[in-house]
Amino acid sequence: MEKNPVRICDTILRDAHQSLLATRLRTDDMLPIADKLDQVGYWSVEMWGGATFDSAMRFLNEDPWERIRKLKARMPRTPFQMLLRGQNIVGYKHYPDDVLERFVVKARENGIDVFRIFDAVNDVRNMRKAMEVARREGAHVQAAICYTLSPVHDIASYVSMARVLRDLGADSICIKDMAGMISPYAAYELVGQLKAEIDLPIQLHTHYTSGMGTAALLKAVEAGVDVVDTAISSLALLTSQPPTETIVSILRGTERDTGLDLNLLAEISDYFAGVRKKYARFESGMTGVDVRVLQYQIPGGMLSNLMAQLREQGAEDRFEEVLAEVPRVREELGFPPLVTPSSQIVGTQATLNVLLGERYKIIPEEVKNYVRGYYGRPPAPIDPRVQRLVIGDEQPIDCRPADLIPPGMEKAREEIGDLARSEEDVLSYALFPQVARPFLERRARGTGGKEAIVAAIAATVAHQDECRPVVAAAQARPELVLSPWKLSWRPQAARWQGLIAGAGGAV
Ligand code: CO
Repeated sequence: MEKNPVRICDTILRDAHQSLLATRLRTDDMLPIADKLDQVGYWSVEMWGGATFDSAMRFLNEDPWERIRKLKARMPRTPFQMLLRGQNIVGYKHYPDDVLERFVVKARENGIDVFRIFDAVNDVRNMRKAMEVARREGAHVQAAICYTLSPVHDIASYVSMARVLRDLGADSICIKDMAGMISPYAAYELVGQLKAEIDLPIQLHTHYTSGMGTAALLKAVEAGVDVVDTAISSLALLTSQPPTETIVSILRGTERDTGLDLNLLAEISDYFAGVRKKYARFESGMTGVDVRVLQYQIPGGMLSNLMAQLREQGAEDRFEEVLAEVPRVREELGFPPLVTPSSQIVGTQATLNVLLGERYKIIPEEVKNYVRGYYGRPPAPIDPRVQRLVIGDEQPIDCRPADLIPPGMEKAREEIGDLARSEEDVLSYALFPQVARPFLERRARGTGGKEAIVAAIAATVAHQDECRPVVAAAQARPELVLSPWKLSWRPQAARWQGLIAGAGGAV
């Protein structure tokens, strides 16, 4: 029997913790297991991009660029994969071409090997530039199709998009099922068609949310899929990926045996089971399959965001109404796949429509820009009545949105000045000015690392017996140290601030 192993992309360092732990996993918790991960023989490890870039600076006080370099030094053999939101890069709006270009060049230089590139409305014009630069820099260009369900999305439409992506120079095609909605039989059919029509490796990315994930991967394997995305079991399931070890076990002894070592995977899983406990307060509270994903075809992450928005307004009782409004707004806006940032655009408008008791009474700027065409061409035309309500007589653009955006690198370089020590810093600022500036300022003051802060506190209070438990707690849960007053240690806040200031540090 000819061997044709299924290859595995493990999402443990990106999507798994983005989906389960609010993207909070620190580099320090990745490094101790990196050499083991490097021994597995993965097709790739997804470890960068998506929300991790923003989260590293915003919540972890970490330089996202440094994460690639530190991991690369310990994982020289494993291809590193990142998720790139096309012209949105790793942000929530379209950026100028020069920022995108330098970003891809620098990501490649720092150690990214595989660029998975997608666009939220599947407008390939928004993927072209990223694909072109990644290809020029010698990376693997994986072009992704956002998978969704609607009257205008069918197998033929996905296959024709894949054809365009192949002609644009893709090295492989990813079916990106960000909501976990692909059924096993749909996966079988879609993968089969893509394998028959497109002469490129096909990869399937799904989420376990609806409970169909493992079965979908298995049917995709039967249809000839080349690579599947999984997550090591201790950070799999729920809204994360199907478990790596389960897929490895299912395929054992077949002609599609992955060849991966279950004992090694078990060791890695044990490690992350321990790490996960440290991040317990970021868990969603979800305990099993979310049947609403199947009912409403709304991604799990979007459901929790909607609930949070309503809770803020004290309107949790309107949840069902909002759920019913989402598909309506989505249809009126031309059936965009629900993924960052279109999920926020549709979700916010649906919430406003319900809470204000009048549809489109208030229209956020993002919705206006979407209707203006600034996010690209929606899969279906926008309802003309809604278009009139949103932008009146204004004509939407029909060019590629980034064609209208002036270059951004020079401006960013001037604005951030000496705070930037490298082009990477300039890029961080160009992408997230409000987050990167305070981050770079903290670094310049020498209060960048949590170690420095823990050490400062420890030095000040070393001789004060009553403070020892606080120091011990800080060392045990350093992720709380940066802004304890915002989190669960409110009572100590004032005292802490005083202590830190006394130690010559600022937070
Ligand atoms: Co995902």
